[in-house]
Amino acid sequence: MLVSAKEMLQKAKAGHYAVGQFNINNLEWTKAILLTAQENNSPVILGVSEGAGKYMTGFKTVVGMVKGMLEELNITVPVAIHLDHGSYEGCMKCIEAGFSSIMFDGSHYPIEENVAKTKELVAICAEKGMSLEAEVGSIGGEEDGVVGRGECADPNECKAIADLGVDMLAAGIGNIHGKYPANWEGLSFETLDAIQQLTGDMPLVLHGGTGIPEDMIKKAIDLGVAKINVNTECQLSFAAATREYIEAGKDLQGKGFDPRKLLAPGFEAIKATVKEKMELFGSVNKA
Ligand code: 13P
Repeated sequence: MLVSAKEMLQKAKAGHYAVGQFNINNLEWTKAILLTAQENNSPVILGVSEGAGKYMTGFKTVVGMVKGMLEELNITVPVAIHLDHGSYEGCMKCIEAGFSSIMFDGSHYPIEENVAKTKELVAICAEKGMSLEAEVGSIGGEEDGVVGRGECADPNECKAIADLGVDMLAAGIGNIHGKYPANWEGLSFETLDAIQQLTGDMPLVLHGGTGIPEDMIKKAIDLGVAKINVNTECQLSFAAATREYIEAGKDLQGKGFDPRKLLAPGFEAIKATVKEKMELFGSVNKA
């Protein structure tokens, strides 16, 4: 069932668990995530970066593919199609293409400009019944070729953005995209606590979910995180399973080169990773 992320995240925040956002890249990714959500009776958010959207030939293709799968696979759990780290123009394209949720990443703008653009999008999303995620304090690591260092958001700026009427707020708390370096200092729970105290019921979003130790994930959920983004971990699982298949020479046995066979271990690996995260985040049976 295609829905905005608003209600599922309000429920998650109130119930002290988090909904996973898993980024999609193609048909196998999308099918694996949707089936796992249904099997575990869990709400789910499909994340689409602008780069992945382009790779899949455009946002309209993404919406068509997801809507088709929801029907053909009988997916009844709540599913949101969400633009990940959208530019202002990207947000407009996704609104037009029929996404149910968008993230406007205005974290690189001065706060006044982030506020002005976010405000404009709040009005459009409210009218369309879509949910909107805003970001304060840039999240480090590499995404679509842009590398940044994890910084900590200013809790007062978080409050200013939260008060505009967004549905979820991503705040930098020392988290980064991709693998964490060996000398990573961990999440700043002090910052997270200060943000949650000022923003109250606002569902908070933790980006860079790959490689954050389980105890930190649980503590972040205790402190108000209701959405956790995972991307790299599915890519690593998919690549490892595919490598194993090819290194074992299975593509050379019989019809092992058939893409439906060649991609099957990677598909199963994504399913296992998504299930593991849903269990850790506490979203199983919360559909
Ligand atoms: P990872 O790739 O580190 O899991 O981060 C995903 C993310 O935050 C997408 O916005």
